Amino acid sequence: MSDVLTEIDELSKQATAELSAASTADALEQFRIRYLGTKGLVKAKMKLLGQVPKEQKPAIGQRINAVNDELTAVHTAKVASLAQQGGEPGIDITEPGRRPAVGNRHILMKVIDELTELFGRMGFAVASGPEVEDEFHNFVALNIPASHPARDPLDNFYLQSDEATKRRSDEGKAEAASSSSPSSLRRSVAPSLPPLQLLRTQTSTVQIRVMETQKPPIRVVIPGRVYRPDTVDATHLFMFHQLEALVVDRNVTMVDLKSTIMQFVKAYFGPDTKVRFRPSFFPFTEPSAEVDVWFEDKGKWIELGGCGMVHPNVFKAAGIDPEVYSGWAFGFGIERIAMRKYAIGDIRHFVENDVRFLKQF
Ligand code: DAH
Repeated sequence: MSDVLTEIDELSKQATAELSAASTADALEQFRIRYLGTKGLVKAKMKLLGQVPKEQKPAIGQRINAVNDELTAVHTAKVASLAQQGGEPGIDITEPGRRPAVGNRHILMKVIDELTELFGRMGFAVASGPEVEDEFHNFVALNIPASHPARDPLDNFYLQSDEATKRRSDEGKAEAASSSSPSSLRRSVAPSLPPLQLLRTQTSTVQIRVMETQKPPIRVVIPGRVYRPDTVDATHLFMFHQLEALVVDRNVTMVDLKSTIMQFVKAYFGPDTKVRFRPSFFPFTEPSAEVDVWFEDKGKWIELGGCGMVHPNVFKAAGIDPEVYSGWAFGFGIERIAMRKYAIGDIRHFVENDVRFLKQF
């Protein structure tokens, strides 16, 4: 009999030690299953009753019940006190919580909002177009002929394989050379072949898409992403944003173009901002100019982008009569604008996702 009682006492000691060490809800539940459950170690001791002489049964039975009651009481009390503390021990629920950091809009998206809002006040609507473009909208309709270096596979992200792109562009050049109709006015360089697709290199593509679907007067700005396989450095990324503008109406002149850009630059960067126009060339405008803004902190002129009077071939490709209408356009780099406005020294900051940079704006 004493053996059995010793075994029960051993079990009681072991269980009490484990119970006092159990400090989480999980550990307490594990304890309950191991000792107090219907298949637990305390219940198992009841089976010993069968092996002991009849007269000892009451004493052993009472002892097992007493251990069971004791452990159950302590266990229940611990579960209750854990619940009262509001969860795991060691957590002070009166301590102020850590506030989750609140995200904000990316600085470029804010700049795009500021720009479209500003141009909105000057009467411009916002338009958009696809980032995956075809040759017609990226080049042909913009008066960029088949032989133009801007169409080189090395300068574009074509979606077809290098080999297909090269074959396609060689055949296109040959066809354009032997054909009498100006290649700029046909939908594809080589109409017999499926059109090449590419990530657009300029938002000027959307000028064509707007003119294909809207009648003049047209007055739109087009913010969007463009892609070029450039080497990344402090002023270049292979994906960046442009703000395109297009105005088409009767009697639109270069004076409208220049005064609108001057007005925009002074309104956005401040009335004393220095801006200059340099004569330039773009296939889709004639005459063309480049627009520079003075960066005080860098002490130099930085090019915002190009502008000019819409070329008659562009109007023809988009189905607008150049004898009746004239127009102007510009395409500026939005990162450049943001860098000038917010004194950001390196274009790579926009895409590095460094919270220390992003949370400043
Ligand atoms: N698309 C030109 C570029 O990406 C920029 C440009 C120049 C846009 C003249 C225009 C323009 O609309 O008139 O370099």
